[in-house]
Formats: sequence, structure tokens, C-alpha cells
Amino acid sequence: MVKFQNVSKIYPNGTCAVRNFNLSVDKGEIIVLIGPSGCGKTTTLKMVNRLAAPTSGKILVGGKDIREENPVRLRRRIGYVIQQIGLFPHMTIAQNIGLVPKLLGANQQEIAKKVDQLLEMCALDPPLYRSRYPKQLSGGEQQRVGVLRALAADPDVILMDEPFGALDPISREQLQDELKRLQDSLQKTIIFVTHDMDEALKLADRIVLMKDGEIVQIGRPEDLIRNPANEFVREFIGEKRFIRNPEEVMVEEVMLKTPVTGNTEMGLAEALRQMQHHRVNTLLIVDKKDKFSGILTMRAVQQAIRSGNRIIAKEILEPVNETVTSQSTVLEAARKLDVSSFGFLPVIDENQRLQGLLNYACLVNTFVDVIWPNGNSENEQEGRENGCNPS
Ligand SMILES: Nc1ncnc2c1ncn2[C@@H]1O[C@H](COP(=O)(O)OP(=O)(O)O)[C@@H](O)[C@H]1O
Ligand SMILES: [Mg+2]
Repeated sequence: MVKFQNVSKIYPNGTCAVRNFNLSVDKGEIIVLIGPSGCGKTTTLKMVNRLAAPTSGKILVGGKDIREENPVRLRRRIGYVIQQIGLFPHMTIAQNIGLVPKLLGANQQEIAKKVDQLLEMCALDPPLYRSRYPKQLSGGEQQRVGVLRALAADPDVILMDEPFGALDPISREQLQDELKRLQDSLQKTIIFVTHDMDEALKLADRIVLMKDGEIVQIGRPEDLIRNPANEFVREFIGEKRFIRNPEEVMVEEVMLKTPVTGNTEMGLAEALRQMQHHRVNTLLIVDKKDKFSGILTMRAVQQAIRSGNRIIAKEILEPVNETVTSQSTVLEAARKLDVSSFGFLPVIDENQRLQGLLNYACLVNTFVDVIWPNGNSENEQEGRENGCNPS
């Protein structure tokens, strides 16, 4: 849908902003351009709608060389969303969104219908928002309108230059989710610029990582994470995101260091309170010397309370069949996890002292073959397993 062929851009002052850029963007694809500030992302984007002209090379949109098109007409069929929104302050939301369809000759009725349709897609109640002015909207709402305006003329291609960059983290995530949802039904061809790797990993079908005007690596998010082309890519993606070899990772690195615990002498009402407070259905029980003694399950506590006897934790503990030490490899631990009766492993030291807990969630960043527990398992319905949600 969009094709860059050997595209370079040297600004008149001699800055080489983009160098020999080659990329073919498929229809319905979200391509995310990412890289450090000044690496040429914005310039690349602006060349697509002819806000900047390549010094050499060729860009095709829908198979057609864009130099053969009238730039104004070209821009009307390519949506463009930027960080500073660019809504016209003296125009209502409806007028802002309807601007391009109007320029393209749509009639009043068609435009009004389209505007309402679009507002509804973003959960902005049309009667409430139609006639407001941009400054009467929150930042997140304004940015939504910016996206809707870009969609209004039903363009095949949308360019987005750090569109959510100025928003607070919560609005930002909301808009990312909305964009993904919209894209599921609209299937536009989107070139999206960001410098935020989380955003790129979340939105991209393919990521184009740039440095000094050049492409360093192109690939699906998982490709970049599995096979970073070089140290720069590795660093840019961030060490914490890499999938690691389970034979090289120690339990200590990935375990939860603060599992929800109780002690052998505790009463059952207190045990229940702890479970409720931490939203878990088991407590790891230790004795006075911090030695791991067993597991207290919610079920056992409830049964004991029903029986009416005065009981303390150590009387109804359940033993665990598997434990692991912090110096074991994740591979070894994963094998034990598969046969553990509780779906997690207490991590203990050589003196049986409790050091942490390892559950399936700890394994997300390692490639390891485990029997992943079924998402709708009984456990899940009862409550979370110990340690799934340490606060
Ligand atoms: N109009 C311009 N004139 C001269 N240099 C420019 C101009 N626009 C951008 N540059 C330079 O081109 C390089 C790439 O800029 P840009 O495409 O804006 O990068 P990014 O969007 O990745 O931050 C930078 O070195 C920038 O300073
Ligand atoms: Mg930029």
C-alpha cells in the first residue's frame, strides 16, 4: 500500500535525515517507526504526504508515484495525526471532524451522519460533543477527535506522528486500546511513529527500528525480542523484555520475593483476613525460625472454621511435594512446577528458610516448555493463587 524505494532526504543545511530507506507497507498493516530523537521518523512520515520531498528515491501509495499527484489532493486521502493535535480552535468538534469530507464535496447530511458515527466509535456521545469547541475537551478527548478527523474522509492510509505522546499514561493506554479496536474493524494502513517501545510492541504488526536516518531492523515485535540484530536493538528494546534461556536464568532472578505468608501459630480468622487482604487463596506458612512448614489453603481454613473447633494454622497445614532453591535454574524449577500440587513452588534455602515463591507468571520471559495451567481453572475461580498478585 505504501512503498519506499531507496528514499533519502538531505535537508538544505546538509543534514542527512533519512538514508536509503526501503520499506513496503502492506494494506491493513500497522507499521511502527521507532528510534531515538532525531533519527528521521518524522521526516520519513512527512515524505509520504509530501510535506517533505525526498532528495532521491521514490514513494508509491496505492501503487502510484506520489510525485505524480497533486499534493493537496494526496493529503486529503491520507489521514495525518500529530502530537499537537492541530484541531482548529474556532471550529466545533463536528466541524473539525467534517472538514476534509466537506472539502471533498460531501453534503451536509452525509457529513453530519459520518461525524456522529465516528464520535460513537470513540464513545463520545454525539449530542454532547458535536457542538463543543476543542478547548472544552480533555487532552485525551481532543486527541481522540484528532484521530477521528483523520478517519473522516475514509483514507486508506493514516500517518500518525507520536499522536499520544503528550497524554498522561492512563489516557495514553486507553487511546492505544481504542486504536487497536478501531483497526480491527477498519483495517487501515497505518504508519505510526513513537519513541516508546511499550507502545510499539503493543500496536505494531511490524516495527521499523531506525538510527541516524537508517533502518537498523524490521520485524514483528516478537522477532525483535527473539533476535535483536545488534547491541543497539538490544539496548533500545530493553533488557527486561528479552526472552531468556531457562537454563541460564536462576530462580532467584524471577521469583516473587514477597509471597503472602503466615505463621504456624496464627489463628484461622487472622489467616482468612490475610487471604482477603492480599486476594490470595493460600498462605505460605513459616515457623518461628522462618522455616517453611507447609501451605494453608482457604478451603482447609473454611472447613476448620465450620467445624467449630479451636484450631491454629499448624494443625491443618498441607505439605508440598515440591520445593526449589533460589540457585536452581528456571528449567529445573519449571519441571517441578509441572508436577507441583499447588501450581507454585516455595523457594527455600539450604536451612529450609522461605525465600520466595515461583509460579507460572514468573516464567513469562523465558522460553520454557511447561504445561501452562488452563486459564479457567478451578483455582482462578476461587481466587488467585498465592503470589500471583503481590502488592
Ligand atoms: N526542516 C529541517 N531542516 C533541517 N534539518 C532538519 C529539519 N527537520 C529535521 N531536521 C533534522 O533531521 C534529522 C531527523 O529529524 P526528524 O525526522 O524530525 O527526527 P525524529 O522525528 O526521529 O526525531 C534531525 O537531525 C533533525 O535535526
Ligand atoms: Mg519526530
